[in-house]
Amino acid sequence: MAFMKLKTLIIGSVVAAASVAGLAFAAGGGGTGDYHMEHKDWSFNGAFGKYDRAAAQRGYQVYREVCSSCHQLKFLAFRHLGDKGAPFYLEDFPNPNDNPYVKNFAADWNVEDIDSDNGDTIERPGIPADYFPPIFPNDAAARASNGGALPPELSVIAKARTNGPDYIYNLMLAYSAHKPDDVELTPGLYYNPVMDGGKIAMAAPLSDGLVEYEAIEVEDHGKIKTIPAPEATVEQMSSDLVQFLAWSADPKMEQRKSTGLMTIIYLLILSLLLFLSYKRVWRNVKH
Ligand code: HEC
Repeated sequence: MAFMKLKTLIIGSVVAAASVAGLAFAAGGGGTGDYHMEHKDWSFNGAFGKYDRAAAQRGYQVYREVCSSCHQLKFLAFRHLGDKGAPFYLEDFPNPNDNPYVKNFAADWNVEDIDSDNGDTIERPGIPADYFPPIFPNDAAARASNGGALPPELSVIAKARTNGPDYIYNLMLAYSAHKPDDVELTPGLYYNPVMDGGKIAMAAPLSDGLVEYEAIEVEDHGKIKTIPAPEATVEQMSSDLVQFLAWSADPKMEQRKSTGLMTIIYLLILSLLLFLSYKRVWRNVKH
């Protein structure tokens, strides 16, 4: 009897948990109208998944040239771009502060600092140790420039949204969806079925050919591979952005996965050894 109750309880909780998860997904990923979320098979999914380095590099380019006029990368320092496992890591420059990409990217931004001689606030070019600077002086200024809406910082957005990578990818693409008649837009709002209620205060940031991609050289186990420049379609730019933002939200994923794999191999070997020693220790005992 008690067992039956326990069983009902367990089944009940599993069903409840599943429906809560389902609801959360619908709220985060569903939309209005008949837009269907496209679920991509990202290179970083699964136990052996890795970021696509060339795509993440292009993603940084799109961020810098398009999104960075409104969105900050608050939790990222320039040097992080050159860390092991990062899009711009170079084997010859294990210290990211010396990495030429990192130095160039940092110098491409102006960073606020204090003049050590007189205490005045000054602006100077960034250095690898700096964090990505804020785009607006404060939230009120950010809202004032964006019709009252606050552009969220993007470094952890891939984790901050349910099913982040698919969400961001579809958010970029869904602007072209047909608006149902029951969604009414006030000025400054745009139709996007991926957002709850189908409205967003960000105009479609991408259009075909918006950036100019170049061929990229990536190091693969000491060998240099040249990846030709793809066409800069909205789909391509969006999936490149996702590679970059997925990395920035989880920069240690690759290390974590390889540690996990080594741990499993270690445990398998250990189990085998334990089994063999068990056989040996008990070999003369009847049991
Ligand atoms: C002109 C300013 C501007 C640009 C450029 C811009 N955004 Fe936005 N973005 C916004 C604003 C404003 C919001 C808040 C929208 C809202 O709350 O309705 C936003 C929201 C977002 C969100 C969060 C949506 C959510 O679920 O709340 C994401 C993700 C995003 N932007 C990604 C991007 C990406 C990627 C780019 C570059 C390709 C980009 N944005 C370019 C202004 C901008």
